Amino acid sequence: GKGEYDHYMLKEINNQPTSLANTIEGRIKDGDVAFESLPPGSFDDIDTVQFVACGTSYHAAMYGAQLVREAGLRTEVLRASEYESTSGPVDENTLVIAVTQSGETADTLDAVRKATECGARSLAVTNVVGSTAAREADDAIYIRAGPEVGVAATKTYSSQAVTLALLTQRIAADVPEGTPADDRGEMLEALEDLPKHVETVLETSRAEALARDVFGSKSYFFIGHGLGHSVALEGALKFKEITYEHAEGFAAGELKHGPLALVTEETPVFAVSTGSDSDSKTKTNAIEAQSRGAPIVAVGPDDQSLVDVADDHLSVPDTHPVWAGLLANVQLQLLSYYAARQLDRPIDKPRNLAKSVTVE
Ligand code: F6R
Repeated sequence: GKGEYDHYMLKEINNQPTSLANTIEGRIKDGDVAFESLPPGSFDDIDTVQFVACGTSYHAAMYGAQLVREAGLRTEVLRASEYESTSGPVDENTLVIAVTQSGETADTLDAVRKATECGARSLAVTNVVGSTAAREADDAIYIRAGPEVGVAATKTYSSQAVTLALLTQRIAADVPEGTPADDRGEMLEALEDLPKHVETVLETSRAEALARDVFGSKSYFFIGHGLGHSVALEGALKFKEITYEHAEGFAAGELKHGPLALVTEETPVFAVSTGSDSDSKTKTNAIEAQSRGAPIVAVGPDDQSLVDVADDHLSVPDTHPVWAGLLANVQLQLLSYYAARQLDRPIDKPRNLAKSVTVE
């Protein structure tokens, strides 16, 4: 049941310190990544990694793909429903990773079948043991988030992103062209603190008060660059899904190529930062929106210049930039939740949506 919470969504958001600890458990050994079913050497013959997914899982896949790219491997992240029209060449040296919480999403299953027909090796990253994706793929890795009841994916997104980050380090160590992150040790060490940092965000978040302030705007924009871009897209999807208000996520640099025409004092802009070099682009573009009257809310670590110019701030603890984006996302989950609550929406079961989409 929902226990002390009014909604499953809030329960699941608050469960993240525990679900993330489960995701990580036993998977970091002696400063290296260990996956039970995939020992070192498992990815020796892979030269390209394709991610296929839908919706929120696609945003987690974007997160994973950026880390794969940084590790020196060729990678593509494809919307499962557009697989045929967007996939590059596939052969037996391609690893296709299906990112699907339920393991039953028809578009995702279909994309994996198409890739494996071309000889690709398949791996399911899923929450559900025995799901179709897990059974059909050559290998499966479980994100161990525990059951998620709310239609809006929250804790499964966080566990997917962490699992993919770990998997990336495993693959990069195997593949000859791979270059595991220089600061891998630091990054893995910081990961062990992630559940604690999520706890801090949950305890200190000002999202509820902020949701009250921004309510009644015309549209809500979410921007970011690099890993922050995928978080911005996820923030906007969650917001529209449960508030029924219009929200869009953009790559920060794209704002000036069209969307800026919509920006007024009635379009708050949530600018996601991770504490990395990529934040400067987000800042420049946030200032452009601000000079057209838009209120700017910085979402990310304190120690960055975006915070100085922003009108408001949803703060996350200082950590490795790879994990800071996930903390920013927790703030955005809370923002959507409290905005939807204020509007009295049926948060756990938004209209027209189903938890698992088994039609194409
Ligand atoms: C949004 C949401 C959906 C799912 C998408 C894929 O909150 O939950 O966008 O992420 O339908 O579902 P799975 O991960 O089960 O393949």
